[in-house]
Amino acid sequence: MLSGSSTGVSVDAGAGTAAAAAANAGVDADADAAYVVEMRDITKRFPGVLANDRISFQVRAGEVHALLGENGAGKSTLMNILSGLYRPDGGEILVRGRRVHLGSPRHAIAAGIGMVHQHFRLVQSFTVAQNVTLGMSKPRFVLNMRAIEDDVARLSSSYGLQTDPRAKIWQLSVGEQQRVEIVKMLYRGADVLILDEPTAVLTPQEARDLFTTLNRMKQAGRSIIFITHKLDEVMEVADRVTVLRDGRAIATLDRKDATPGLLASLMVGREVGGAVPGKKAACGDCVLRISSVSALGDRGTLSLRSVSLEVAAGEIVGIAGVAGNGQRELAEVITGLRRVQEGRILLRGADITNRTPLEIIRCGVGHIPEDRLGTGMVPNLSIVDNVILKSYRSRPVARGPFIHAKAAREHADNLVRRFQVKAAGLDRPIRLLSGGNSQKLLLAREISANPGLLVAVHPTRGLDIGAAEAIHHVLIEQRNRGVAILLISEDLEELAALADRVAVMFAGRVMGVLRRDEWDIERIGLMMAGSATADTGHGADKGDRVS
Ligand SMILES: Nc1ncnc2c1ncn2[C@@H]1O[C@H](COP(=O)(O)OP(=O)(O)O)[C@@H](O)[C@H]1O
Ligand SMILES: [Mg+2]
Repeated sequence: MLSGSSTGVSVDAGAGTAAAAAANAGVDADADAAYVVEMRDITKRFPGVLANDRISFQVRAGEVHALLGENGAGKSTLMNILSGLYRPDGGEILVRGRRVHLGSPRHAIAAGIGMVHQHFRLVQSFTVAQNVTLGMSKPRFVLNMRAIEDDVARLSSSYGLQTDPRAKIWQLSVGEQQRVEIVKMLYRGADVLILDEPTAVLTPQEARDLFTTLNRMKQAGRSIIFITHKLDEVMEVADRVTVLRDGRAIATLDRKDATPGLLASLMVGREVGGAVPGKKAACGDCVLRISSVSALGDRGTLSLRSVSLEVAAGEIVGIAGVAGNGQRELAEVITGLRRVQEGRILLRGADITNRTPLEIIRCGVGHIPEDRLGTGMVPNLSIVDNVILKSYRSRPVARGPFIHAKAAREHADNLVRRFQVKAAGLDRPIRLLSGGNSQKLLLAREISANPGLLVAVHPTRGLDIGAAEAIHHVLIEQRNRGVAILLISEDLEELAALADRVAVMFAGRVMGVLRRDEWDIERIGLMMAGSATADTGHGADKGDRVS
């Protein structure tokens, strides 16, 4: 598939690659090989995990270097080492050809390296300018806030980073806070800027603005290390890309030598893509029937307006729509988490309207909630405890009032194996699992209860390709076994790949339902924006009688 000698591609085959050889020559006279940052054979262990396994990584001046890998590949760990947050167990770091010891973020900044983490480190009650200077070594009285505010404003605008130096952090959107973090690092003199999955919290518009900023910084000679698991971002913004997998550096490529397909296969270690396994099960009996259901949202206004929808056994019905158009409330009324004001919900003919969540679980409804670590699982409990959370009342896990510890363990162990959940141990809290692995575990738990209906809300949101693919396979497999699946997703490609029918929601209504063979992205887009199409089954004609 790949050879180490193909142009511009160096594949780490263990010991000697071209890049590693150049690096080992020390401070190189060749300008092209003069790296701003060189990490050599970096190793980092956590209990039970080899997070970085002899990784070598080089960054040039004035490049955007993407660090690509699936969740858990070791990207954040490697950059936490470069930003002085973690100490490596082995290896060395050179900055502009000189060996450095980065004992703390302060040391890293002094060496010109600054990192913007996934979770920001801003003081909410301080202004932008105060945050920018927070913890800097100059004595307080030397700091003239007005002058700083001017500096911050100038710095911001020179890179197209819109910020108001006097705004308080709590007043800012997440995108704005990210800009403050970037300005903070620039102000402190970072000319190597590390961004950890920066677009995860941005709208597509904000992401485009960020890319413009990155290009400006690059033109000014700064280097940017851009952590991501998204291939299209690499193709759009990177000059070079290094792919990490399972703690190892797999390859470094020039962007011009990369294709999304090649990157994806390097990332997951096998060919990916192509169609999701087909085999459409014959659609069976109606499992879920929602008729004219209305419900109130959190603010007391109608969030579901006379919604009618059916899901049959062996069918995936997708719900498309822009977030906030009633999708979440729809999942909640079905699973008993929100009251129905009007209308009925039937499960195989039995009325489950306004039953308790527990009763509904017992009727055979599985749920993958939107906030998997909030409603779905308990972050501080172990894998075993999370897996039995819902089944502790039933055999074999429960024996009378007691929980059978050994059976619980075996059950958890089975699920972890069957669903290939990567975990360091069954007793470790699940907050330590990656997003993909905790989602697999949640899905495993729900499926192990043999549900007749599965309500999956954004089941792959925030997951990388490999994990999303695994989840898709499980959903298809369940559908083919005859489970009725309601799949709520904002990802139209996901719906196109999985759904047998797709219903589009807007303003609490179902605007229309399309069968797979009627799939029409234009039409779906129009319905998502609120224009009803008369010729599709469930119209918006029933009005809002509840008020
Ligand atoms: N502080 C930590 N303690 C224990 N394990 C960790 C810690 N940070 C990361 N890990 C583990 O190291 C591996 C790599 O994680 P990480 O660097 O966060 O990956 P990525 O950023 O590529 O998603 C994962 O298995 C993760 O669970
Ligand atoms: Mg990470």
